[in-house]
Amino acid sequence: MATSHTSNQQDLIERAQKVMPAGGFGNFDSGVVIREGNGARIWDEDGNEYVDYLIGSGPMILGHGHPEVVEAVQAQLTKGTTFFANNAAGIELAEEICNAVACADQVRFVSTGGEADMYAMRLGRAHTGRDKIMKFEGGYHGMSAEAQMSLAPEKLVNLPVAVPDSAGIPDSVRDEMLIAPFNDIDFARSLIGEHGDEIAAVIVEPLQRVVPPAPGFLEALREECTKHGIVLIFDEIVTGFRVAYGGAQELYGVTPDVCTLGKIVGGGFPLAAITGKADVMANFDKAKVGDDRFLMQHGTLSGNPVAAVAGLKTLEILRRPGQYEKLFAAGETVMGSITSHLNAAGHAHTIAGHPSLFNVVFTDAPVRNYRDVLKGDTRKQAQFEAALRRNGVFKSSGKTYISLALTDIDLALTDAAVAEAVKALDD
Ligand SMILES: Cc1ncc(COP(=O)(O)O)c(C=O)c1O
Repeated sequence: MATSHTSNQQDLIERAQKVMPAGGFGNFDSGVVIREGNGARIWDEDGNEYVDYLIGSGPMILGHGHPEVVEAVQAQLTKGTTFFANNAAGIELAEEICNAVACADQVRFVSTGGEADMYAMRLGRAHTGRDKIMKFEGGYHGMSAEAQMSLAPEKLVNLPVAVPDSAGIPDSVRDEMLIAPFNDIDFARSLIGEHGDEIAAVIVEPLQRVVPPAPGFLEALREECTKHGIVLIFDEIVTGFRVAYGGAQELYGVTPDVCTLGKIVGGGFPLAAITGKADVMANFDKAKVGDDRFLMQHGTLSGNPVAAVAGLKTLEILRRPGQYEKLFAAGETVMGSITSHLNAAGHAHTIAGHPSLFNVVFTDAPVRNYRDVLKGDTRKQAQFEAALRRNGVFKSSGKTYISLALTDIDLALTDAAVAEAVKALDD
């Protein structure tokens, strides 16, 4: 993992700055350009090698360039890459989602997770004829106007007031949003109790970023939504096929009315889905619900066959015996490395999340919601992240995504990088 000093990466960074706002795609540190990936490793344009815990922000659970996925994709490429019309691979993928996911009677495909979330919230409105959406502070649901409310607010206001995270959103959207703190059962019950007949949908990441649900929290949301005829949406873009094959609803035993899927389900290609119970999904079918409740939905690449075969092959591999045990064991090894090195050096910290995705927060206070995460020592966090990168571990600042491609060698390199990163921390 030696650092090379050729100028290829710098040249690309400078070219990107000329033709892209903020020098990049808007997603990630524009100071690095990735050349290629293989298994659990990636290389930047200067040839620096990293163990990859970003894995494309979650989709590459099998690692990069898995030979069986590549083979399935190559076979599809020669048969055509997009049709707009129905295709067998998309239909088969919808069937497999219905087999896997408890709430899924039916599936509508789109191309990105954010698009799926936007339609899921609109579906709640179409189904109930109400306008308000309840979401949780710090919850991520893509880039729609509704999702951009209190996603990462710097101003901590009295909830349930929403704070827009983006310019360009009319105040009228903010006025239809109710924001609650994640994991606060009493707050959620009283907010729903007060506004129950105005709320179309409650949207929640069942494991919010890296914060697991408190015992009884998802159950309380389920109960209140049922009581008030509200559509409960689980955003499983991240957790779907990751925390369990059937997603967070399988792991936590709570079934929503609607669930959105993305990332893993497209096998590394642009594909996402809105799934849900038949009576709610009927709003996509004009023949069933009539003009007034019909939710119009189109997308040029929806159900794209290349993405569908990649997703189908990925799911097939995940269904093989022992895969989740292997995934979680790798995650526990990395969690163990972080904890043991930080403990040995006496740094207060909490590892929040699940063995398949988690992050360290530099606090020993409980991490139950967005505001708790903010209480972590951000200076130490930044030092830790930067030192991990320098020592060959690639991740985002908010998450550590585990893949099945991680080998014992990758895990040993990670342990060594963590040891070095801990040395880089201020006391
Ligand atoms: C929970 C959650 N929902 C929705 C999205 C949006 O998905 P996409 O980036 O595919 O639009 C993300 C993306 O990271 C996510 O983490």
